[in-house]
Amino acid sequence: MDNCKAIVFDAYGTLFDVHTVTEKCELIFPRLGGKISNTWRQKQLEYTWLRSLMGRYEDFWEVTRDALVFTLKEQKVEWSDEALSDILNEYLHLKPYNEVPAALGKLQVQGKQLAVLSNGTPHMLQSVIRHAGLASKFSYVISVDERKIFKPFMDVYQLAPDKLGVHKEEVLFISSNPWDVSGAKVFGFQVCWINRFDKQFDELGVEPDVVVRTLDELAEKLQREG
Ligand code: LAC
Repeated sequence: MDNCKAIVFDAYGTLFDVHTVTEKCELIFPRLGGKISNTWRQKQLEYTWLRSLMGRYEDFWEVTRDALVFTLKEQKVEWSDEALSDILNEYLHLKPYNEVPAALGKLQVQGKQLAVLSNGTPHMLQSVIRHAGLASKFSYVISVDERKIFKPFMDVYQLAPDKLGVHKEEVLFISSNPWDVSGAKVFGFQVCWINRFDKQFDELGVEPDVVVRTLDELAEKLQREG
């Protein structure tokens, strides 16, 4: 991770736990919370990839809503507009993983510019970052919405060096999503896969430059490198 001038984070699943929604889902649909949360996240991602391939962009809020509607229909449950709204709004205040606030502070004091590059809409990202008290950690919060296409489309990664005023090789990109790590690597970033849950990396022809389990581990590695 030499010559890293900026650290750019994926948001959902990397900084914020998308399965925060499970509790609300379980409250409204007892015994189905976990299943709904898992299917919802997978469908949300699938819809971003499919809409990018079809050239039929809708923003991440719409895609997230559509994925939730699919999930509830698949579970053959009844729901009110209010219940749908309640569950969807959980995305505006997802919990950060425990070590994230302090680890971002450690990375900041190392003099690195910190930014977010996410499929989330500007409103979604501002809400979830502000609610977690993390707004002061980032120089930029970048939404793919200005390109009207989702990661891993190469053009969207270019947003980060453009806004941060660095070369792509000077960016360390961090994601928990192997497909996002792979896209960022192909684009030309240095990449870190944060593998909190001992998952298997995808077979997409590239490997992460570094693998960690927590952001603390990354902060320590960068501190040692100086
Ligand atoms: C994001 C999703 C892909 O934050 O995790 O862009």
